[in-house]
Amino acid sequence: MRRFMRPLIVGLVLLILLALPVTAVLARSYFLSPTWQPAQEQPIAFPHTTHAQLPQLECEYCHRGVSEDAYAGMPALELCMDCHQAIATDREEIQTLIEHWENNDPVNWERVHQMPDHVHFVHSSHVNYGFDCAECHGDMENEIDYAEQVRDLRMGDCIDCHKEYGAPTDCSVCHY
Ligand code: HEC
Ligand code: HEC
Ligand code: HEC
Ligand code: HEC
Ligand code: HEC
Repeated sequence: MRRFMRPLIVGLVLLILLALPVTAVLARSYFLSPTWQPAQEQPIAFPHTTHAQLPQLECEYCHRGVSEDAYAGMPALELCMDCHQAIATDREEIQTLIEHWENNDPVNWERVHQMPDHVHFVHSSHVNYGFDCAECHGDMENEIDYAEQVRDLRMGDCIDCHKEYGAPTDCSVCHY
């Protein structure tokens, strides 16, 4: 019995020792991945749901590049001021917004998503194919008040979806 147990225990210990660094590497790449970040603290707390539910404000009204460019793009301060010269001017966040406007000082929004430099993502290909923003960004019209990354969007996730829809998976499609 003992003679049988000993190699088994040695084997188990070896297995655990071997598994540790692998687990550590996997955990590190998960938690430290450059593209997975919690919600960012923004200079002005901009509520998406409030705006996306206004009948005249499609996502594309503010993110004008989505169907033509690689980048979705950010709205200029002028666009906010079309409304906020008059709307909710008594609120603290809107007063900060007005200060930026009066000082000609653009708001530096923190990036929520950020692909590494060697990766190439193109909004227009996905949006014109027919994917809804919610497919990758969640329901920012009804559920997600403040922009945050909700989908993995790392290489495995991109490739799985490309395979599912028969889109190209050559390295050069996504890498420079
Ligand atoms: C009135 C303008 C406006 C509208 C309408 C709007 N957004 Fe935004 N969006 C912004 C601003 C300003 C930011 C930067 C602040 C932030 O990240 O919260 C932003 C940030 C984002 C981000 C994060 C960008 C990053 O840094 O990675 C996503 C994703 C996004 N919006 C998607 C949407 C979607 C989807 C809709 C429609 C349901 C939408 N937006 C409608 C103004 C708008
Ligand atoms: C089409 C008009 C319109 C545009 C354009 C618009 N907003 Fe608004 N915004 C509103 C309305 C309406 C509310 C809700 C006001 C309320 O609660 O009474 C609001 C609310 C807000 C609030 C929350 C205020 C609070 O503390 O309750 C912030 C912050 C804000 N907007 C920032 C922005 C920024 C930044 C932009 C430009 C990227 C922008 N808005 C563009 C109409 C607009
Ligand atoms: C197939 C997934 C996918 C879809 C669909 C998608 N996005 Fe994105 N979005 C991304 C990825 C990935 C990034 C990060 C890109 C980068 O860092 O270069 C991003 C970044 C953004 C950004 C910030 C950076 C930029 O490009 O300006 C905004 C704003 C944004 N998306 C809005 C939208 C809106 C609005 C829609 C719908 C019209 C949409 N996205 C549809 C995956 C998607
Ligand atoms: C929800 C599914 C889905 C996800 C997630 C997705 N893609 Fe795509 N992607 C597609 C489809 C489908 C096409 C093909 C569109 C077409 O045929 O016009 C495509 C096309 C592309 C193209 C353009 C290819 C060309 O030659 O026009 C690039 C670049 C790309 N994807 C990069 C990425 C990257 C990088 C990610 C991850 C950050 C990603 N995609 C995530 C479905 C997806
Ligand atoms: C559909 C898009 C897509 C395709 C196709 C793709 N990649 Fe990637 N790749 C990404 C994205 C997004 C990242 C950045 C996020 C991450 O690290 O997963 C990445 C990251 C990487 C990295 C860096 C990993 C790190 O830890 O920084 C390497 C290396 C890489 N890819 C190699 C390849 C090779 C080799 C191929 C072809 C066999 C390939 N990729 C095909 C989307 C893609």
